[in-house]
Amino acid sequence: MAYALEDEFGDIIGKARRGQNISHTEITTETGITESDLTRMEQYTLKPTEAQVYKLAEVLKLDGAKLLDIATETWEPIPVQQDGDTKLDVITVSVPFGGWPVNAYILICKATDEAAIIDTAANPTLILKQLDTNKVNPTAILLTHSHRDHTEGLPKLQKATDCKTYIHKNEPKPQTANKLHEVVHSDVISIGDLMVTVLDTPGHTPGGCSFLTHTAAFVGDAIFAGSVGGPNISYQDEINSVRDNLLSLPDEVRLFPGHGPSTTVGEEKLHNPFF
Ligand SMILES: [Fe+2]
Repeated sequence: MAYALEDEFGDIIGKARRGQNISHTEITTETGITESDLTRMEQYTLKPTEAQVYKLAEVLKLDGAKLLDIATETWEPIPVQQDGDTKLDVITVSVPFGGWPVNAYILICKATDEAAIIDTAANPTLILKQLDTNKVNPTAILLTHSHRDHTEGLPKLQKATDCKTYIHKNEPKPQTANKLHEVVHSDVISIGDLMVTVLDTPGHTPGGCSFLTHTAAFVGDAIFAGSVGGPNISYQDEINSVRDNLLSLPDEVRLFPGHGPSTTVGEEKLHNPFF
């Protein structure tokens, strides 16, 4: 079976290095790893030794033991139970966008069969088909952030469902969308009997946010199993907001990211080298 994590060792050290604005030269000075070998590691063509993993972790302020498990491909999150909550169901819609898979989710209130669409996975047709197959009634579209791979096709979904669409106040708005409703941290959105709370998770984008209900959190590109999204806006905001607003939740809370497999708060606390 192929290693299922969204990010490999090379992605992780590249994100940490660029996010903290550390040059290849600085790393070479600190670790003795040549610039050429470092480049090859970031491009996945050179496997590091255990000693190199620990040296890199130290200079990049990552957790060495957790990073080693990913470098040696010895950890993957235990698959999340899809029926692990009595109050809600989650359907994952994963489709390719620009050659890479992206996840959207349908959150279903079991008591009422009302549903929220979380991001669009760039394929509204598939989402509409899933809503139909599962005989649920969509009442809201929740956007974790406005990158195209998560919002492409939003107008078609809006037209087909007439749902109110929620996006964070600080997030750039998708140009093609209409009827956007702005939210901020701690706002609550009702989906049937489910109360969905908005959590600030900026850093990947200015107004990136997550949506928490009961034992499920939809986290967009704030955190991936074993990694984080690219810290395009602020590395420190991304690390701090994920630590404070997501990893502070109970261990059993399931995290559904925009890319890669689902995981849990407990798994990430034990295995994510950024924390
Ligand atoms: Fe993104």
